[in-house]
Amino acid sequence: ENTRVAIIGAGPAGLLLSWALRDAGIDSIVVENRTQDYVLARIRAGVLEQSAVETLTRLGLGERIRTEGLEHDGIYLQFRGERHHVDFQELIGRSVTVYGQQEVVKDLINAHTSAGSTIYYEAADVAVHDLESSAPRVTFTHAGEAHTIAADFVVGADGFHGVCRASIPREAITLYDRSYPYAWLGILANVAPSTDELIYALHEDGFAMHSMRSPHVSRLYLQVDTADSLEQWPDERIWETLHARLGVPGWTLQEGEITDKSITPMRSFVASRLAYGSLFLAGDAGHIVPPTGAKGLNSAIADVTMLAAALAAHYADDDALLSGYGEAALRRQWRVQQFSQWMTDLLHRNRTDLQTMEFDYQSQLGRLDYVTGSVHAQRELAEQYSGLPF
Ligand code: FAD
Ligand code: DHB
Repeated sequence: ENTRVAIIGAGPAGLLLSWALRDAGIDSIVVENRTQDYVLARIRAGVLEQSAVETLTRLGLGERIRTEGLEHDGIYLQFRGERHHVDFQELIGRSVTVYGQQEVVKDLINAHTSAGSTIYYEAADVAVHDLESSAPRVTFTHAGEAHTIAADFVVGADGFHGVCRASIPREAITLYDRSYPYAWLGILANVAPSTDELIYALHEDGFAMHSMRSPHVSRLYLQVDTADSLEQWPDERIWETLHARLGVPGWTLQEGEITDKSITPMRSFVASRLAYGSLFLAGDAGHIVPPTGAKGLNSAIADVTMLAAALAAHYADDDALLSGYGEAALRRQWRVQQFSQWMTDLLHRNRTDLQTMEFDYQSQLGRLDYVTGSVHAQRELAEQYSGLPF
């Protein structure tokens, strides 16, 4: 089989790239190792930056975002048991939209299905070859049959554990990496959100957050220890801890049936290059952020928006954007990385160093006092949270 762009991975990055290329009249094939049901069922991110909404809308994917997405003008920062609103709309005239990654993926899969796109699910032994040449290949097994795709370019949109980044020779790439001494326990609950906008709370016992998926479904997160398992967190303990960390006088957190529970480790990770020969990396394949700033999905959308424009320019005989993609996407990503790291350090209790942990907590409160008390600091937060331009 031949195509112009072979895309590995049918997460948001791969599916959106294939869709954006189709919009530009460029053929692609997507190769995914999981089933379509698995891809559709994965519960992850929930907040779209304004630019991400604009990209999806421009590509004809905005309809359900408009009717079902929840536009938020800001967030709440909570500490010392007090809740402070940061109003992005008032500060800088921008907003964010709560719309689950699952819904973005569903919209993309529906669009591809109607358009008759070629997506191989359940592909086994996916491998990429001849990346240094201008005739790279992708091989895999599908329904018992061996396949080879010959392409002009291969895009690694295969997430953090994919094969594409690992196919770049070790001496040609440096991996920058930072882990955090805590994890997030996330739940979905069948209950109307107890808040109109997201609450990010630093409590003496640790971080907690109240997000949502719809007017009937709440999404909540708790900082837990990295060694914790779900067995240690029965539903009653989760609600009790959420009440303790999110509670403020005169406000009640409503409980509901918990329908999903998971623990996610936190890490920051950036590969030193997103381009190698005929291979380009996009999304989690090239970088990971801790979830606090809600930047994982948004970064994937930003990469793909830039890469689709660069590939379109290449096929219109202008190579400048494509040869600059790796560098441009990395420079944007490092700005996102420092923000995600800042939000994470700001809002979690780090208990690994007994010598500094109490000082650090007081210092975090000082930083939060500064942020909520300064219009300049709030604008800085608003600009970064609502999203840097692509
Ligand atoms: P992915 O969504 O990982 O998609 C990669 C795709 O490639 C997958 O479908 C995978 O099956 C496929 N694949 C992998 N290996 C191969 C292979 N060898 N061959 C073929 N296909 C392959 N971000 C936030 O902002 N907020 C959150 O709350 C949040 N929660 C998260 C929770 C979890 C458990 C995880 C893992 C991530 C979370 N993220 C969150 C991050 C966000 O979901 C990701 O940044 C986003 O999914 C990136 O999209 P992607 O398409 O690059 O990668
Ligand atoms: C959600 C996840 C995040 O990481 C975040 O910062 C905000 C919201 C969510 O899943 O709703």
